[in-house]
Amino acid sequence: MQPNSLQPKRILLIVGGGIAAYKVLDLCRLIRRKGLLVRAVMTKAAGEFVTPLSLGSVTGDKVYGELFSLTDEAEMGHIELSRDADLVVVAPATANLLAKMASGLADDLATTLLLATDKKVLAAPAMNLRMWAHPATRRNVAQLTADGVTFIGPTAGSMACGEFGVGRLAEPPAILVAIETLLAGDTAIPLPEGAWADPADSGLRPLSGRHVLVTSGPTHEPIDPVRYIANRSSGKQGHAIAAAAAAAGASVTLVTGPVALADPYGVTAIHVETAREMQDAVARAMPCDIFIGAAAVADWRSGDVAGQKLKKSAGAVSELTLVENPDILAGVAQAKTGRPALVVGFAAETTDVIAHAEAKLARKGCDLIVANDVSTSGESPGGVMGQATNTVHLIDHTGIESWPTMGKEAIAERLVARLAAMLAQ
Ligand code: C5P
Repeated sequence: MQPNSLQPKRILLIVGGGIAAYKVLDLCRLIRRKGLLVRAVMTKAAGEFVTPLSLGSVTGDKVYGELFSLTDEAEMGHIELSRDADLVVVAPATANLLAKMASGLADDLATTLLLATDKKVLAAPAMNLRMWAHPATRRNVAQLTADGVTFIGPTAGSMACGEFGVGRLAEPPAILVAIETLLAGDTAIPLPEGAWADPADSGLRPLSGRHVLVTSGPTHEPIDPVRYIANRSSGKQGHAIAAAAAAAGASVTLVTGPVALADPYGVTAIHVETAREMQDAVARAMPCDIFIGAAAVADWRSGDVAGQKLKKSAGAVSELTLVENPDILAGVAQAKTGRPALVVGFAAETTDVIAHAEAKLARKGCDLIVANDVSTSGESPGGVMGQATNTVHLIDHTGIESWPTMGKEAIAERLVARLAAMLAQ
């Protein structure tokens, strides 16, 4: 059966075996909401991540698996299955699937269909960042691009394996935009904001040749050898910013307090404990083009750190004398020489978020403040600290821009894209 213009367009979705496979359920819902039809084919490995039942319930169609049974073949030949589609979408396109596609292997239904199709193919890769950066994958992507395959993503962010970098499946709404663009006959796929299709392509890496210095995480200020003053900062936002800046081509130095996160891929990480150590590390890492102070630096430290563990004395509470820590951000922003072109601060507030942020912009002398509400709720002690999402307002000398609640990676990508644009001006 050949599709005609009066029939809804049909997508043949090849689902590869990756942790991101669960996202294709959302993608199928979005595709069908647009009035398009979608039929899914799963590789054997995809079955480890989504079930034919869940895929079938969102496609509203039979799901074809690794083995093409005689009954299936009688109902619809495998060549017909691929010809029946207007567009073939591979999501997630794993490193293995891309390698098979690039070399024309056809050892299961998915790869046989990919070899048999004469329709446009859109691939949405998702894999570990080192697999994406590997020369073999780079070669396969280059070959497939030359063969006419269109790529969407991957994007930068945190991975299921706990690392940061380029390798995440493009978000389903961005894949849908790419599908509609290709169905409309256009081949220019707009990259989602902050996404870099090919890390080797310097044209898409707006911070190439720039040095970005990021502080992240809390600081720990010792009281005695076993106790310290700390806060609930997880470092997720600062680390995501460092990863996004690296993905945008910058050389990145990340000065981080104690966190339970892996160092982002491709950044130089310097581990510190206290505010004064952080200040020293920042001074040593200068100069930079952009300074982003995302760390929750302790405002105070103990003025008298005990050499031995303090003892409980009956009924009496030891007094703690606090002294103020150096303000690292203000020091960088107000430097007489070597001030970075852009200095960005964060404002974690629990009340009057915007008013405090405006005051901070002026007081610290930075170019941009990213303000967020860290007030606590019953469900999330510590508020946004440690959470995966954030709601921020950007305050600069021209006004306020409020962003919707987003994942910290998405905020990082958008912030980096905006800073790259500011720097280019
Ligand atoms: O003054 P406040 O802690 O609210 O300001 C927050 C901003 O200032 C953040 O960007 C933080 O990284 C930075 N800061 C700093 N050194 C300090 C205190 C805060 O760099 N001692």
